[in-house]
Amino acid sequence: MAVDVLLGLQWGDEGKGKIVDFLTPKYDIIARFQGGPNAGHTLEFEGIKHVLHTIPSGIFRDNVINVIGNGVVIDPVILKNEIEQLEKLNVNVKEKLLISKKAHLILPTHKLLDKASEIAKGKHKIGSTLKGIGPTYMDKTGRNGLRVGDIKSEDFKEKYNRIKNKHFALLKDSNLIKGIKSLENEFLMCIDYLKNFEHIDSEHFLNNASEYGKKILAEGAQGTLLDIDFGTYPFVTSSNTITAGTCTGLGIAPNKIQKIVGIFKAYCTRVGSGPFPSELQNEVGETMRKIGHEYGATTGRERRCGWIDLPALKYAIMINGVTELSMMKADVLDSFEEIYVCTHYLQDGKEIDFFPFELSDNTQPVLKKIKGWNMDITKIEEEVDFPIELSNYIKFLEKELHVPISIVSVGPNRSETIIR
Ligand code: GDP
Ligand code: IMO
Ligand code: MG
Repeated sequence: MAVDVLLGLQWGDEGKGKIVDFLTPKYDIIARFQGGPNAGHTLEFEGIKHVLHTIPSGIFRDNVINVIGNGVVIDPVILKNEIEQLEKLNVNVKEKLLISKKAHLILPTHKLLDKASEIAKGKHKIGSTLKGIGPTYMDKTGRNGLRVGDIKSEDFKEKYNRIKNKHFALLKDSNLIKGIKSLENEFLMCIDYLKNFEHIDSEHFLNNASEYGKKILAEGAQGTLLDIDFGTYPFVTSSNTITAGTCTGLGIAPNKIQKIVGIFKAYCTRVGSGPFPSELQNEVGETMRKIGHEYGATTGRERRCGWIDLPALKYAIMINGVTELSMMKADVLDSFEEIYVCTHYLQDGKEIDFFPFELSDNTQPVLKKIKGWNMDITKIEEEVDFPIELSNYIKFLEKELHVPISIVSVGPNRSETIIR
């Protein structure tokens, strides 16, 4: 049986949480394959808004197993808090959540190292969420990491201390370690709490489930332009956010992957530093931010807003092998009489239509003007009721991107989703 993948095509926050929740009834298992609590996936239904950081977005649906895969990095403190919030809403997390033994743990000192690294970078900082993501993945590839499967081993504390002391040596000239004792106590308490959950060999679990005909959806975090290899390096995250990340982050072979759903906003946003050629540092961008509530679900920071970027989207579609698209937040453009699309870049005086090695701060967007629909689309339930300008926008994007747009989202609620 096949595995489907859903992931972001821009700089994250495309609306992955909403669409995973929407599609979950079609699946038996939802599995997160990378990232950690830098992610903030928002779901809205029955008048309540939920933000998930580590737990897959299928957790609210009945009869679905949610797997945190080996490619994810887990902060036990944040995960415990997330679980407790869900339990308050009567979600039986213990029954529905499985955690890979091979997922790496974010230690308190990883978060301090993240902070120290950003301080050292000064004005060149990445704008990290400071959740310890980079240092934890560095320890993973540096072969120093601590994994969920270590929690129940007798020498856990010894292993932990060894890594902590290594980190202390790196932080020795910093004031950051002052508050470590209380952070450490909290961490160890949360490690104990996680012993109550089921730790599994998720690669075996998922492959067996697939053999038995179970349907699996792999949920991405961040977005393709934040991918460690193909994103706007160094202003990226530390994992592979792309389809290939499903293979390494869940142990799923490439030939098992079937549908690849790529999600994008009808415009574009970015939070943190780094190039963003179609950014609108003006009133138009502010209007988008206000209407779209573009503030980070994890850090609350303002998201930078701009027009949709076709060279970047085409690149993301190529890297991921996207088979269908979901266009999100079309309603945010409801009041715009004109919409612009970045079709090319002007770089070093030359017009280019591809995503280059590096986007520099002076890479300029070449924009095409499109007539907006300039009406409220949030109550529309079927494609036949789309204003002609919205249909034209969709048709134009499909022609450029060569992939069908199968879902159009017109509001944050689960119900505000139109299948084409
Ligand atoms: P994710 O990280 O990809 O899951 O996305 P986030 O949850 O960080 O950000 C998406 C935001 O847009 C959330 O606040 C969602 O509730 C909201 N959202 C999702 N789809 C729509 C939509 O179609 N219209 C509007 N107005 N908001 C949406
Ligand atoms: P979701 O899954 C948007 C950004 C940060 C920063 C860079 C590196 O909600 O789409 P990190 O903490 O990973 O070291 O930060 O990546 N970033 C995100 N931006 N959505 C996310 O996740 C993000 N996760 C990280 O703002 O620029
Ligand atoms: Mg988000």
